[in-house]
Amino acid sequence: MKVLKFVALAGLGLILGLNLSPLLPGSGVEQPFSFNHYAHRVMECTLCHPGAKTGLKAGLAKSQTCLKCHATSPLSQKDYQKIWEKADSGIPIRWNKLAKVPNHVYFSHNRHVNLAGLNCQECHGKIFLTSSLPNTPFKKISMNNCLDCHRKNKVSQDCASCHR
Ligand code: HEC
Ligand code: HEC
Ligand code: HEC
Ligand code: HEC
Ligand code: HEC
Repeated sequence: MKVLKFVALAGLGLILGLNLSPLLPGSGVEQPFSFNHYAHRVMECTLCHPGAKTGLKAGLAKSQTCLKCHATSPLSQKDYQKIWEKADSGIPIRWNKLAKVPNHVYFSHNRHVNLAGLNCQECHGKIFLTSSLPNTPFKKISMNNCLDCHRKNKVSQDCASCHR
């Protein structure tokens, strides 16, 4: 029932010629500072994204994880020092999500990484070889990308398996 309502609403949007895209998340995200994946490339992704293999959500990095290796600011600039002082006193570094699916889409990392054995790269590209964060998803997440791979792998393309 939820799915039917969703499809009907989306259809109405199209008929009325409404552009719903500004309401979609993921464009021009600002971060507290940029993060250098390349400098951390020897580490397991799950050190900072603990749910990426077996969780629903991968999860954003926790400041506690950073502080374990960097008791003091890793860079000397004032901006960084301030962020580290705050983190040390319990005010977390607030990262913002880039890759997102809307609320009406169900996505599970466990299903794709743990069960299907897919690499992060399939969906996120080589973000771990970059020295700064992009402000839009490194690789676009779209319904067509989901469907292309589902077709190739003979996985369900039912509206209701993703829109629930
Ligand atoms: C397991 C240990 C470890 C953890 C956890 C860790 N780092 Fe690092 N970080 C390092 C090491 C080692 C380097 C130096 C790499 C180099 O110079 O090639 C580094 C380098 C850096 C640098 C300097 C890189 C540059 O751009 O020149 C920054 C900034 C940084 N880390 C931030 C973070 C943040 C933010 C977190 C948490 C999200 C974090 N680190 C978590 C070990 C760690
Ligand atoms: C030392 C910590 C650390 C490690 C290790 C790490 N990342 Fe990240 N990653 C971050 C931080 C900090 C961000 C910025 C916050 C965010 O967007 O999640 C980030 C962002 C991302 C994003 C963008 C998430 C989003 O919001 O769309 C992806 C994708 C990603 N990392 C993939 C990986 C992969 C793949 C690996 C392993 C090869 C990895 N990361 C290892 C700290 C780390
Ligand atoms: C089949 C595609 C796919 C694979 C494989 C995949 N991801 Fe994701 N990832 C996504 C999608 C879709 C989202 C957005 C999910 C959402 O909004 O709930 C996402 C979101 C993220 C985020 C943002 C934070 C969050 O919890 O939503 C991080 C970080 C991330 N993925 C890291 C990883 C890492 C690390 C791996 C490999 C261990 C990986 N992903 C494998 C599709 C994938
Ligand atoms: C690179 C390939 C790939 C991409 C991209 C991908 N998937 Fe999948 N997906 C799979 C595979 C393979 C399975 C079967 C996993 C298993 O063994 O259970 C699956 C399973 C699923 C299932 C469970 C299907 C069922 O039968 O109930 C859902 C839901 C799902 N994916 C949603 C998504 C969404 C949403 C996206 C896009 C954001 C996406 N997938 C992108 C490969 C992919
Ligand atoms: C494999 C997963 C998957 C399947 C199957 C799927 N979708 Fe989607 N759908 C998505 C994702 C992911 C998005 C969000 C894309 C984005 O944010 O750009 C989406 C977005 C949409 C939107 C746009 C909504 C908006 O916010 O603008 C509509 C409409 C839609 N789907 C309808 C359908 C219908 C109808 C079916 C069945 C014929 C279907 N979808 C099957 C994953 C799927």
